[in-house]
Amino acid sequence: MTFRASVKLAMLLLAAILVLTLGGVPLIGEWSLELGTLVFLATAVVIAFDHERRHFSAMRQLTEGLAALREERDDTTRQLEGIVYLYGRLQPELPLPPFNKATIKPDFAERLAGEVLSREAPVIVELGSGISTAIVGLCLKKAGAGRMLSFDHESKYAGLTRDMLAQQRVSDFAQVTHAALKVQRIGDRDWSWYDIDVSSLPLIDVLLVDGPPRDTQALARYPALPLLYDKLKPGAMIYLDDGRRSDEQEIARRWQAEYPGIELVPFPTQSGVIAFRKP
Ligand SMILES: C[S@@+](CC[C@H](N)C(=O)[O-])C[C@H]1O[C@@H](n2cnc3c(N)ncnc32)[C@H](O)[C@@H]1O
Repeated sequence: MTFRASVKLAMLLLAAILVLTLGGVPLIGEWSLELGTLVFLATAVVIAFDHERRHFSAMRQLTEGLAALREERDDTTRQLEGIVYLYGRLQPELPLPPFNKATIKPDFAERLAGEVLSREAPVIVELGSGISTAIVGLCLKKAGAGRMLSFDHESKYAGLTRDMLAQQRVSDFAQVTHAALKVQRIGDRDWSWYDIDVSSLPLIDVLLVDGPPRDTQALARYPALPLLYDKLKPGAMIYLDDGRRSDEQEIARRWQAEYPGIELVPFPTQSGVIAFRKP
């Protein structure tokens, strides 16, 4: 029986006792009227408290729901601002490919584009290709100089990104290489990471770490810095996407502990990108 039903039953019984007692039929001795009144009042107090509790709980849920809605509205606005910026600044000949859950978010794309456009003939290396590759390609085309070298462990996605680059007519500035994951030794541990000939890479201005995906291994993106650190120019930026995830936060902690010189750069975006600058 629910709390409400039990209280209703108790009220009914007490009302019956009171009515009968007042009518001259004392059911539980000479104190039945006082006792009945007391229990009646106590039940009423319990009901009032229960009512208040439900009321507060409903109010709290409503307030939390409203706060979540406001946050969502602000995020949508922020992402729209990012898209407007990209179209305004890059003026692509064709619509940009759609952003989705797997891609970087427009607010990060905006800041990435700003960073790339602020550098002279930059070299950008990306782990995990997609719309980010096309956006950086468009920046380089606009600037007329620079190179984007993107690596993808999945040949299917490498191919899709290549098609995107061709569509946007930026293949001269951005290239995607299929690099399957292979076991590589870092310190005393084996890691699964892109099969890249690091020694053949040019010096890097911007490193975008958006792969491999987390289902490939724990702390999947950790190897990026140990394996590419020496290839980063002084002042190079390192962006680790999806920084709200616990794996990425642990990776950032390890990088900071192992490369104390790198500077954490405040970088507020919705996906929680973690940004570092090499000194
Ligand atoms: C986080 S995604 C990279 C996204 C990319 N930087 C972008 O902004 O579009 C990491 C990897 O997931 C794979 N991937 C890309 N799109 C995907 C999708 N829609 N579903 C599952 N995996 C995807 C690709 O192999 C890619 O290298």
